[in-house]
Amino acid sequence: MQYRQLKPFPEGFLWGASTSAYQVEGAWDADGKGPSVIDVRESYPEGTADFTTASDHYHRFSEDVALFAELGLKAYRFSIAWTRIIPDGDGEVNPAGVAFYHRLVDALLAAGITPVATMYHFDLPAALDDKGGWTSRATVDAFAKFAEVIFREYGSKVKHWLTINEQNMMVLYGEAIGTIKPGLPKSAVYQANHHMMLAQAKANQLCHALVPDGRIGPAPNIALCYPETCHPEDVLAADDFNAIRNWLYLDMAVEGRYNSVAWAYLEATGATPEIAEGDLELLAADRPDFIAFNYYATHTVARPRADGSDLAGGDQQIAVGEQGIYAGATNPYLPKTEFGWEIDPIGFRATFRAIWDRYHLPLLVTENGLGAFDTLVDGQVHDGYRIDYLRDHIAQIQLAVSDGVDVMGYCPWSAIDLVSTHQGVSKRYGFVYVNRDEFDLLDLARYRKDSFAWYQGVIAGNGADLS
Ligand code: BG6
Repeated sequence: MQYRQLKPFPEGFLWGASTSAYQVEGAWDADGKGPSVIDVRESYPEGTADFTTASDHYHRFSEDVALFAELGLKAYRFSIAWTRIIPDGDGEVNPAGVAFYHRLVDALLAAGITPVATMYHFDLPAALDDKGGWTSRATVDAFAKFAEVIFREYGSKVKHWLTINEQNMMVLYGEAIGTIKPGLPKSAVYQANHHMMLAQAKANQLCHALVPDGRIGPAPNIALCYPETCHPEDVLAADDFNAIRNWLYLDMAVEGRYNSVAWAYLEATGATPEIAEGDLELLAADRPDFIAFNYYATHTVARPRADGSDLAGGDQQIAVGEQGIYAGATNPYLPKTEFGWEIDPIGFRATFRAIWDRYHLPLLVTENGLGAFDTLVDGQVHDGYRIDYLRDHIAQIQLAVSDGVDVMGYCPWSAIDLVSTHQGVSKRYGFVYVNRDEFDLLDLARYRKDSFAWYQGVIAGNGADLS
C-alpha cells in the first residue's frame, strides 16, 4: 500500500539503541562476577577476540552514557549479566554486581534516558550449565529467583523489561552463537526451549507482582519468511518455517500455547518436550504487555529437496534449511552486507504487519543494524553505508505506523561498538567507534561515527527528517 501522506512517529516514541552485557561490558570476572557459558567457552572462532574486555563499558559506562545523552537517546536497551547478580546462578547475591546496575540505571535516568533491561542475553551462568543448563527444570527456578532479585532491586527505577533475548536463535542456531555445546540432541534442545518458556512465564508474573507500573515483553528475533516461488509447496514451506522460527515463540509468549504447526514439526522430528503437570496453566497464566523483537532481514525458503542440499551452512542469519522439512534459498531481489546477511527494509514493514495482525500488542524494536568493517581515519569514521541501512529501515517503520501498527520505539544494534557473537570486534555496528582491534586493546577510546550525528538529527526531529 502506498500513502499520499504518512502518519508521523508517535509522541514519546522511544528512539533508542541496544547492547548486551557480555558483548560490551568486559570486566568478565570483576567484583565477584561468576563465569557465564560465554566466559568458559573452550575456543572462539579463529581470529576473533574473546569477551574478557569487550568495550570495557563496565569501567567506562559514565563516559558512554554521556555520549548516549549527547546522541539524544530516549531509551537505552542493555542486559543485566545474571552472573554479576548471582555468580553461580542460584546461590548468594553479589552486592558489588547489584551496585553496578544501580550506577548504570541512575546515570541513565539522570540523563533523561529510559532504561530498557533485558534479563538474559545469551550469558547463562556456567555453574548452571554444568548442572544441565536449560535442559534442567531447576534452571527455571534459578531464573525466577534471579528475576525476583532484579525486580526488587531495580523495579522502582526500571519499568521496561525484556525476558529472554532471541530464545529462538539460541534454539535454532545455538552452536553458531556459542550458547549450546555442539551435539546436543534436538529433543534436549526443545526441552530447554520449553523450560525457557516456563522461565519467561514466571518472569512475567513476578514483574507484574513486584514492579509498580512495570511492563514486560519477550524479545525474540522475528523475521518474515518468504517462499522462493508461488509454487504452493514453496508457500507451504515458508508457512512451516514461519511457524518453526517465529510463531512457536510468540504464540507461546502471548497466548500461552504451542503453535500447532510447530508442534506437529516437533512430533515429526521426535523433539517434543516433556510437559509436566501445571506447565500449561503457568504458560497461559499471564500475558506480556508488549512484544519486543530483533530484526535483521527476512529469510527465503523453498520446498524440501531432501537430497542433502536443504540446509545452507553459515550463521544465525544465513544457515536456513532443515533436511526434509524446508530448504534455504537466496532472495535474488536483496543486496547483502559485507558479512553475507541479506538487507530487506520492506521485509521489516511486512514483519511489523504480520506480528501486529496476529497479536495486537505494542511493538518495540530491540535490534536492527548493519555489521561492517568500519575504519577510523584521523579520528573519523565515514559510515554512510550504515546511515543508508538505518534510514531505509526507519522509513519502513513510518510506513508500518501509517499501516496502523502500534510501534513503541526503535533500538538499533548497537549503541556503541562491541564484540559480535562470533565474528569478533571487526564486525562493528555502533554509532560510537571503540578504538581496539581483535587482539590489541589499543586505547579503547570512543569516537563518534558519521551515523552518530545523523541519528542525533533523526531523534531531534522525531523521525520527521531522515536526510
Ligand atoms: C543478535 C543478537 O543475534 O544479533 C546480538 O541478539 C548480536 O547479540 C546481533 O550481536 C548481531 O549478530 P552478530 O552475530 O553479528 O553479532
